[in-house]
Amino acid sequence: MPATNEFDAREFRNALGTFTTGVTIVTTLAENGDRVGLTANSFNSVSLDPPMVLWSLAKTSGSLDVFKQAKHWAVHILADDQDNLSNTFAKKGMDKFEGIDCAEGIGGIPLLPGCTAVMQCKTEYAYEGGDHIIFVGRVLDFARQEKKPLVFLQGRYAVAAGKPSLEEVQSATITSFSSNALDYLLPRAHYQIYMRVRAHHESLGLNDPQYFVLCSLSAQNHRAHGEINAMFSITGHKITQGDIDSLVDRKLITTQHQDNELMLSLTEDGKDLAMKVIAHSKSIEADILGQFEIWEAVQLKSLLRRLVQITDTGLPPMWENNPQG
Ligand SMILES: Cc1cc2nc3c(=O)[nH]c(=O)nc-3n(C[C@H](O)[C@H](O)[C@H](O)COP(=O)(O)O)c2cc1C
Repeated sequence: MPATNEFDAREFRNALGTFTTGVTIVTTLAENGDRVGLTANSFNSVSLDPPMVLWSLAKTSGSLDVFKQAKHWAVHILADDQDNLSNTFAKKGMDKFEGIDCAEGIGGIPLLPGCTAVMQCKTEYAYEGGDHIIFVGRVLDFARQEKKPLVFLQGRYAVAAGKPSLEEVQSATITSFSSNALDYLLPRAHYQIYMRVRAHHESLGLNDPQYFVLCSLSAQNHRAHGEINAMFSITGHKITQGDIDSLVDRKLITTQHQDNELMLSLTEDGKDLAMKVIAHSKSIEADILGQFEIWEAVQLKSLLRRLVQITDTGLPPMWENNPQG
């Protein structure tokens, strides 16, 4: 490490970026009555008694003069669903408060809703700090809500997740068959979801193999009976000639012999019905995923995709051109 400060600025930023922080928005009221605020992650606690906090403001900030004059300001610690708000307040030259229902705090400072905590402060000190001014404030009032905080790490928003306890690690990695075993949890979740899906397609006169045929043809039309059967074989069942004949009788699919294969294609009616059953399955999925945090749903799908990859036995892919489904 060099003795002087002639080191690479980007590397220095990257090194600082490994220090995980929360995200705040600091607001105040200008003397002319304008509401002013910016996103800041330089916030930190200073003292418990008296209660004091600090944050630093870049000297290039458009809000510098206002904060230098301001007697009071409020620090809002953002919740994990407020990344858009953070982005808004990280911009320059616009009314950042437009459309936000603010309350009025001490000295008329605007207070933003929906944060995990809000601290209303009186400027106690302002120090020179290189290209920043460090504001130290005495906390005059604060409020807190039971919400998860937004996290900032290595230039990206993140979510805070506690590390699992030793007991949780042991329970998750234990190999004996238990209610925490993967081959209990996955089929149980699958059947619980699928029971709802099945109730709908059965009400439309489709059995499981026929539902599968419609879905796989809607993912990619004109497929061989053998190929669809190979995918369906994962269930331990087969798509019989009777299943195919009944779909043909209902004019949902057509069949054609080609190179010793029976090719299946959706008719217009078949496409309509496939859209209907798929839309219903998607609504069930949306209902279930809606009970997760967004980031949990993203992580759940990513982990499941990895699991499918790790356990792949070479089944033909269902979605040729759209692996995300
Ligand atoms: C996550 C995050 C943290 C930030 N932290 C600070 C900070 O601590 N101090 C600062 O001056 N700017 C910080 N910024 C940048 C300001 O929010 C940004 O420059 C903003 O446009 C300043 O607005 P203003 O010029 O209207 O004051 C941060 C931006 C982001 C996205």
